[in-house]
This record gives sequence, C-alpha cells and structure tokens, in this order.
Amino acid sequence: MPNVVIVGTQWGDEGKGKIVDVFTEFADVVVRFQGGNNAGHTLVVNGEKTILHLIPSGVLSPKVVCVIGNGVVLDPEVCLQEIEKIKAKGFLKKEGSLLISETAHVIFPYHKRIDRLREDNKGSEKIGTTGRGIGPTYEDKMARMGIRMCELIDADLLRRRLESILPEKNLYIEKNLNGQPFSFDEIYEPYYRYGEQLKQYVTNTPLFLREKIKKKKNILFEGAQGTSLDVDHGTYPYVTSSNTVSGNACSGGGVGPTDIDAVIGVSKAYTTRVGSGPFPTELHDATGGHLQKEGAEFGSTTGRPRRCGWLDLVVLRHAARVNGLTGLVLTKLDILSGLKEIKVCTAYRYGGKVLKEFPGSIEVLEECEPIYETLRGWEEPLTGIKKIAKLPVPAQKYLKRIEKGAGLPIIMVSLGASREAHIFIKNPFRKN
Ligand code: GDP
Ligand code: IMO
Ligand code: MG
Repeated sequence: MPNVVIVGTQWGDEGKGKIVDVFTEFADVVVRFQGGNNAGHTLVVNGEKTILHLIPSGVLSPKVVCVIGNGVVLDPEVCLQEIEKIKAKGFLKKEGSLLISETAHVIFPYHKRIDRLREDNKGSEKIGTTGRGIGPTYEDKMARMGIRMCELIDADLLRRRLESILPEKNLYIEKNLNGQPFSFDEIYEPYYRYGEQLKQYVTNTPLFLREKIKKKKNILFEGAQGTSLDVDHGTYPYVTSSNTVSGNACSGGGVGPTDIDAVIGVSKAYTTRVGSGPFPTELHDATGGHLQKEGAEFGSTTGRPRRCGWLDLVVLRHAARVNGLTGLVLTKLDILSGLKEIKVCTAYRYGGKVLKEFPGSIEVLEECEPIYETLRGWEEPLTGIKKIAKLPVPAQKYLKRIEKGAGLPIIMVSLGASREAHIFIKNPFRKN
C-alpha cells in the first residue's frame, strides 16, 4: 500500500508515460488497464528515448512486475515486437517481469481493416482514429464475439473461435465496407504462433494483484488516452472506445474500488489533441505555433501533428470530478517560457450564457467560446530548476491559478522530457 492510479485529464499525450516512469521508483507492480497500442507513452532516461504502446511504463525498472490487464485490447504482433525491442535494451530479462491477463481481448487483422475502411468511408466525418483496430475489438468484446488471450494460446480453441467468427466479419467487410475478406489460414497460421510465443506471459492477473495487495505491495495503475477521450465522459463520438477514467483501473485491472488509495491526474500546462473533434481553446495563431514547435507536438503513435491551445480549466474540473482526482501533475511547464502572456480558460460562453461545467453534447461544445483570464508570462528557461520557490514568480502564480481553478493540489511539476526533470511537491506513495 498505497495503490495509485494515474490518468490523463485532457485528450491524451499529457506525459503520463514519463510520470509513471518517475513514480515507478516507489512501486512494486505497474498495470495498464485499458486501451491498446493506440497509446504512445514516451520515456527519456539517460538521454535515450523509449516509446511504449502496450507494455507498462514501469518496464525500465527491473524491480517491478509489469501487468497488461484484462481491460486492455492486445495486438499480439505489436506486443511481441515491443517485448523484443525492450529486451534488446537489456530489460524484461527476469522471468515473471511481464504478465498478460488471460481475459484481455485480442486485436485481429479484421479489426484493423474494419477500423481503417470505416475511417476511409467516412471522409470528412472521420474520427481520426489511430487505425489500430481498437474500436472494432472493444465492439466485439461487448457483442460477446471477441477472442481472448486464453483462447489465443490454445490452438484448438483459437481454431474453433475463428471458424465461428470470421465468416461474419468477412461478410461485413465485403458487403458493408467494400473491402477484401480474409482467408482462414491467413489469420490462423500467424496468430496461433503468436499465441505460442506469448503463452509464457499469460496468467490470472487479478489473482496476482490480489496476492500483492495482501502483502501490502505498492501498485501503480497506468491510464492511457485522457478523460476527454473517455467513451462515456469525453467528446463522444470523437473519443476512443474504452473508459479512460480512474474507475476503469478497477474493472480493467481486476481490483476493487476499496483497493485504490490515490488518483493522480496528469495535465499539460497547455492543451493538445490529435484527431478530429471539438477543442474550445485551440489556437491557430503564432502562439499555437510556439506550443507546437517548442513542445515537439507530434503524435508518438502516428506521427500526426497535435492541435495545440491554452489550458482549459473547464476540462480540468470535469476530469477532477469524474476521476475523483486527489492530486494533479502538471507537465511541460518549460514549454511556456518565452511567452509574454499566458491565457487560461475559466468558463465557456454559450448562446449568451456562461457555462462553468463541461457539456455532455458536442453540438453545445462546438458552439462554446472560451472565456479567458490573462496572466503574465516569463522569459527564463525552467530547465534544471529543482524547487518551486526557484521558478519565476509568474510561473508560481500560474500554478496557484490552476490549483484554484481545478480545485486540486499540484503534487508534481514536470520541466522536461527526461526522468529527473521534475519537482515533487507531495509524493502519493509517502505519508509526507
Ligand atoms: P503520454 O501519452 O501521456 O505518455 O504522453 P506522450 O509521451 O505521448 O507525449 C508527451 C511528450 O512530451 C513526450 O514526447 C515526452 O517525452 C514529453 N514530455 C513529458 N513531460 C515533459 C515536460 O515536462 N517537458 C517537456 N519539454 N517534454 C515533456
Ligand atoms: P496516449 O495514451 C492521444 C485518439 C485518436 C482519435 C481517437 C480515437 O498516448 O495518451 P482510437 O484509435 O483510439 O480509436 O482513436 O482517440 N487517441 C489518442 N490521442 N493520445 C492517445 O493515447 C490516444 N489514443 C487514441 O487520435 O482521435
Ligand atoms: Mg501519447
């Protein structure tokens, strides 16, 4: 104990990977509980960059066990490639250092084809998915026609499941999406081999976590995407297909709400978004250009440029509420250096009314105009600063404004991509 959940508070890419890597020092187990390889979590350690799509961001610490939970959708080919890459860097050497839930659902080639064909057919209406088959795999899970890890690793079961499911998938691809169907062997042959290779990692992960909880070990749950991409609480339909909020650490990890002690939200000091959908504080001017360039805002999964804008306290308050956040980590504060003034959105103007809370309908959100408060910026670079009191005064005031606006304490500030570029204010794993 304690067990801590980390989630994104915006539209993803808040720097969760870096923060999980930093927190891993205090953890025994790190668990991914939702999403799949639509995620791209970047760690920079000793100048070396590692981008993880599926494997938890605790993997660069040999003392922890990394768990891919039942709520994740897993592309076996990508998983095996990622394991190989990490092993080549000298990690994941110890047996038992990676566990995969036997009930996690598997992404198949037909899921990826459906994802891409649907997006192509939608034209300008497209969601801008990562094309990794995430949505179609979660659909099959809910429709009770998915294939799970325990079936992938059993050649006979896999054959039976594929024989019953593939004809329906092929019919859908051909008739509804004008696409090419798959032959049985083209999927079965490589996939049963992937199953053979992954078998060594597959286990009952909720049982493993329960044993760790009984021994009072520290578990860190790593969210992917962000609250505004949550299928229930985000900008639907421009969202991902899983619950990204902290509650899903329980169902997607296989633990109970009473097992969670702290929920930390990660927010950038500004906002970014990849893909389509409303984004009230988006900037199309030189300041947006500054954030994009200085923040190197290109997607770590698809390489697409990220849309950039000011920090939105309405979004942050919504995230605080639906995740039950107990603290906030603010990342990329260093990117704001050099801006004369900094704006922060405190509410929206909608048809003559002032909205203080995030609306459920995107039709409403699309019509919302941000109401800004303007703060003084600062020139100095923040690299290397190790104490809040040493930050330029306007930066300290910005932090205070965010705490007040979000109604949350900032427990850590991140000032660079590398592991050591941060200031801890309160460590959720410690009683300080
Ligand atoms: P995630 O998906 O939430 O893990 O975030 P990504 O890794 O996709 O995107 C965050 C990007 O910002 C990565 O390139 C990180 O290396 C980088 N990053 C994280 N924290 C900071 C920070 O405080 N300052 C700077 N300059 N870069 C950061
Ligand atoms: P991390 O974990 C940012 C976005 C896609 C698209 C929408 C749906 O790195 O923060 P999907 O492929 O999930 O069906 O796409 O969600 N998206 C992300 N945006 N960061 C992510 O993950 C994302 N994962 C999905 O761009 O708009
Ligand atoms: Mg990312």
